[in-house]
This record gives sequence, C-alpha cells and structure tokens, in this order.
Amino acid sequence: MAIGARGGSFPPGFLWGVAGSGYQIEGAWDADGKGPSIWDAFVRREGAVLHGDTGDRACDALAPTHQAGDLALLARLGVGASIFSVQWPRVQPTGRGRAVPRGLDRYRRHVDGLLAAGVRPALTLHHWELPQALQERGGWADRDTVHRFVEYASIVHAALGDRVPIWIPQNEPETFARVGHVDGKHAPGLREPRLGLVVAHHLLLANGLATASMRERAAASSWQNAFGPVINLSPFRPANPRSAADRAAAARLDGERNRFFLDALFHGRYPADVLRRKRAAGRDGGLDAVRDGDLAAIATRPDFLGINYYRSERVAPEGCARTPTLQKPEGETTAAGWPVDPAGLRETLVRVRDGWTGELPLVVTENGTSCRDTVDPEGRCKDPERIDFLRRHLREARRAIVADGVPLRGYVVWSLLDNFEWESGYRERFGLVHVDYPTGRRTPKDSFDWYRARIAANAVD
Ligand code: GCO
Repeated sequence: MAIGARGGSFPPGFLWGVAGSGYQIEGAWDADGKGPSIWDAFVRREGAVLHGDTGDRACDALAPTHQAGDLALLARLGVGASIFSVQWPRVQPTGRGRAVPRGLDRYRRHVDGLLAAGVRPALTLHHWELPQALQERGGWADRDTVHRFVEYASIVHAALGDRVPIWIPQNEPETFARVGHVDGKHAPGLREPRLGLVVAHHLLLANGLATASMRERAAASSWQNAFGPVINLSPFRPANPRSAADRAAAARLDGERNRFFLDALFHGRYPADVLRRKRAAGRDGGLDAVRDGDLAAIATRPDFLGINYYRSERVAPEGCARTPTLQKPEGETTAAGWPVDPAGLRETLVRVRDGWTGELPLVVTENGTSCRDTVDPEGRCKDPERIDFLRRHLREARRAIVADGVPLRGYVVWSLLDNFEWESGYRERFGLVHVDYPTGRRTPKDSFDWYRARIAANAVD
C-alpha cells in the first residue's frame, strides 16, 4: 500500500482494543463491602448530572448476569486488549487499611475471563474513583493521598501483577484536576483555581511513585508488566490564526493542558510560561505543592504513553481579563457538539514523538464519538456517523505510522458499551454496543461489525 493512500494495513502485531471504566459501567455501587467514591457522593448532589442520572446500576458490567456475555462480545470483536479500571473503594472502602478480598476477587474473575477470551487486560488504577473518605480528608489536594494511592497500587499489583500485562496508574489527570477541582462539573465538584495545579501535581507524583514501586515488584517476581500513564491531549488552535491575541490565548491553553503534563512526565520540569503565570497568581497558583525531588519522581520513565484523543479546540481571549476561552466549533461536530478533527490526531502523535517521547511506544488509549443511537424495530442499531468518525481517525493514525514513522503500537476505541458519561449521564452513547439501560440488553451496533472486520484485516478501509 502506497504511503498516503486512503486506507491500508497496520504493522504486524498492532494492538487493537476497547476501553471502559469502573464507575461508568459497573453499577453495584455499594455491593460486597464497597465504600462510596467521590462519584457516588457527587451524583447525589442536586443538578450535578443531567436528569439526575447516577452510576448506581450503569451497565451492571462484571455482574454475573452480564459478565460472560460481555466477555463473549469482546472475544467476537477480536480485540487484543481491553482497558478497564479498578474502583479503589471496592478494594479499600475508606482508601486505607487492609484490602477487601471480595473486591479484589471481582477483578481477578474479570482478568481471568479476559485472559481466557484471549484478550490482554489493561488495568487503570485511578479513573477518578477516589474513596469519599479520603476526599473528606482533603482528597487529591492533600499530599498524603499520594501515599495512600501508592499503597493501594501496591495491593492491586501484588494481587494481579502476575496476570495483568498492562498497567495505567493514572487516567487523564488534566481532566480530573481541572473539571473536578476548578470547574466543579465532575466529582468532587470543587471550584478552587489553586487546585488545578495542586491536584495535577499530586496525580503526576502518584503516577511516578506507583510506577517505580510496581516495577520493582514486577522485576523481583519476573512478571512481564508494562507501565504507562494515560493523558488527554488536544490541539488548541487560534480562532483567527492571523490574530496575535488568539495565538497567545491558544498557546496558553496548550501550555496548561498539554505541555504541562508532557514536560513534567518526559522532561522532569513544568513549562516556563505556565510557571510564570502560576507564580504571578501567588497562593492561587498552587506552586507551594511542588517539593524538591517531586519532578524527578514524576519523570520516572514509563514503558509507553497512552494518549486519549477526541477533538481539537479553537481559542480566543474573552472579557476584561482576556481569559483564553474555547470558541464554538466552526466545522463539523458530533451529536454532542464536539469538533471533529481527525488530522489533529496525526498532528498530536507526531508532535509528541518529536518533542517528548522519541522512540517510546505510543498507544491511542481512547478515541471515539457519541451518537444518539437507537435500536430499530428489526433489532438493528445503525451508527454510520461513528463508523465514519473511527475510519477517518484510524486513517490518520496509520499515516502517522507509515508516513511519519511514529512508534504507535495500538489504537483503542472508547467504548465497548454505552455507559454513564459523567455530567451528561446516559444521554451520550459512546459504545460499539448499544445498552438498553432498563433491561440491560446489549445490541452490537453496525460499528461493532465494522471494527471487527478492521481488526481481522489489521487494516483500515
Ligand atoms: C476518560 C474519559 C472517559 C469519557 C470519554 C468520553 O477519562 O477516560 O473522560 O471517561 O467517558 O472520554 O468523554
């Protein structure tokens, strides 16, 4: 296949996957001795989630009623890997102390099921499910939570490290820190500018320290584990490329949301422009959270970097403070109004390789789109928009490999099942499989068959 051709093959061994996360699919919020997480608390606040939806039941995934069926779907899809997250308060209900065996058993069964289905388990340790008891002691704003997390990571790794090959300590620290602690739209629902940096810093530190300690155990046990963080990245484009003010506004958000994480993880420092503004903000900047030695720990070399890519953004300054603000998308959008920008994926992969990761393996750990999918009277769920979205992004991912030489080793669709989409509740459907929430019935969408054919061919059409 010639370079630049529209479709084409991926390299042999390319890893195809799907992703999901605990709170978004598991339900069983208080079963088997599980403690409440910050999401269990947040969804009970008036007006926090669209229609008052909660993850109390979600898809009942991992419950005996659905576990075998969902594993069979994964096997039929033919994916090489499945990303799932362990809910911390199932393992340690209050975030400290001895593990609850039933909590760990639930995930052990799931991992064994994946392995039996020929699917590599990829385990996320923190997809935002902090035990509420730790939140009440300060949560991720408190440095002690970093040490609690390392202890929790060590419990889960000791239990499952022999059979889980891929470990993701932290997922999207940027989203969790900003949307949960500055915007207040996700759990724990705080609005404190200072916490943007403090929480992000503690998450990065927790990622580095947990990676080092798990890696040590893996080496001592001869386990074959790969450790890597997952970060969300988006190109921030000036709304008007000819406007210097718009370019500056875009560069500022790029600093806070992209370079902040990349520089810390791969260069062991925070970007100078971000530091300058945080210093100028005094206490609100949150820089007092950063201690000597932290950045060296954060820059613990991972085995891969996971990148979640959904969209690009247009930015312009607004108001008297000239705050960099996301602008309404101009071109194509998804049903939820998200900008569609497949070329931004290739651009992101190339930029990350060139600026930060070099030869380090990259994986697109999440990409996908929500549609308002319904099952028709014939029992079919047609989702041509999703197929088109995934196809175009896969073509760009392939170009990054074939034309640009990016060491991209895998691509993962968010998500296998429709699920609880945070503050949007159940309105946004991201699945390859439709879920009828009242009955729990699963219906593979057309995109499921399309993705299955791509995996079988190891190629995009
Ligand atoms: C993440 C993501 C997911 C979302 C998905 C669609 O952190 O991994 O936020 O949880 O459901 O990105 O918005």
